[in-house]
Amino acid sequence: MIRSRIIATGSYAPPKVLTNFDLEKMVETTDEWIISRSGIRERRIVETNVCTSDLGTQAALRALNAAGLSPEDLDFIITGTNSPDMSFPCTGCFIQAKIGAKKAAAFDVSAGCTSFIHALSLADKFIKEDPSRKVMVLGAEIMSKVTDWTDRATCVLFGDGAGAIILVGEEGERGVLSTHLHSDGSLWELLYMPGGGSANPSSHETVDKRMHYIKMAGNQLFKVAVRALADVSQEALKFNGLKNEDIDIMIPHQANTRIVEAMAKMINFPMEKIFLNIDKYGNTSSATIPIAMDEVQREGKVKAGDLMLLCSFGTGVTWGSAVIRW
Ligand code: UT7
Repeated sequence: MIRSRIIATGSYAPPKVLTNFDLEKMVETTDEWIISRSGIRERRIVETNVCTSDLGTQAALRALNAAGLSPEDLDFIITGTNSPDMSFPCTGCFIQAKIGAKKAAAFDVSAGCTSFIHALSLADKFIKEDPSRKVMVLGAEIMSKVTDWTDRATCVLFGDGAGAIILVGEEGERGVLSTHLHSDGSLWELLYMPGGGSANPSSHETVDKRMHYIKMAGNQLFKVAVRALADVSQEALKFNGLKNEDIDIMIPHQANTRIVEAMAKMINFPMEKIFLNIDKYGNTSSATIPIAMDEVQREGKVKAGDLMLLCSFGTGVTWGSAVIRW
């Protein structure tokens, strides 16, 4: 059976670190509150002249380097992002041009923080259609530029970064075993950015009303997130005939350590097998999972043949999972 196997990973986070202590000087908050309520200690923030495709480009080049491939080898570049360089063209086209992947078809996926899982699911289908294809999947975000730095309920949570993986078609047991995608658009008001689109085109008024920044009902989203992650993880296990103990490592979307702990408790999944790096990066939206995949790969926390469970949720509301034999 042909499967889409991940042959390489890469990630990039900008060098500038913003700690909780820095935030104490910006809004009415404390390091203690942020750590205890979210698990975040610091996050990376870009300089003003950096855009999302710059981060994606660095992650892409690192993944290509790890794969020993040249940019011209890529057939697709699928980029999950909620913070594109521009409304159009897509950020993937900027990445394609910056790395020189002349042959690749590039496009973006916008499905909140779950976008990377959606992009991975599409990549799997493209490879199943033609196993000779080489597909790059990215999650790339600059959340710091859509964050309201006067809103303490959101500005302490997000960060910037990008991750990339490369998949190829291969006969055998290793690769993507399943993906499951869901959404409930009736819950859109839990997390959104009202300004700048066709509903509220940019104007002096939208800027004055701070409509170009994230609006979030954190408490309500928290409960939806726990349920969604629990449900989609169990759905993925059941689909593959697996149990908790069969999974070697789970990488959940890194939005809040307490969300992950509550989900793990709900499905009785051991925290020791869950990888978290939210303390270092905060919530980088669709980039959290590929950044984490690159870290576990580089740190030797995953080996060939291991079973990995990815699960995510995000604005939309969307949620999804993937099971991968590494
Ligand atoms: O990728 C998906 C994106 N987002 C999420 O997944 C977010 C999901 N939600 C969460 O992670 C949590 O709801 C938060 C971390 C956002 C908030 O934690 P919480 O335990 O749900 O706190 P809360 O919103 O119920 O607020 C508790 C208190 C409030 O004060 P009062 O009303 O009890 O006096 C807030 O005003 O904490 C206050 N508060 C803060 N205090 C210090 C809110 N933000 C801060 C802050 N520092 N940064």
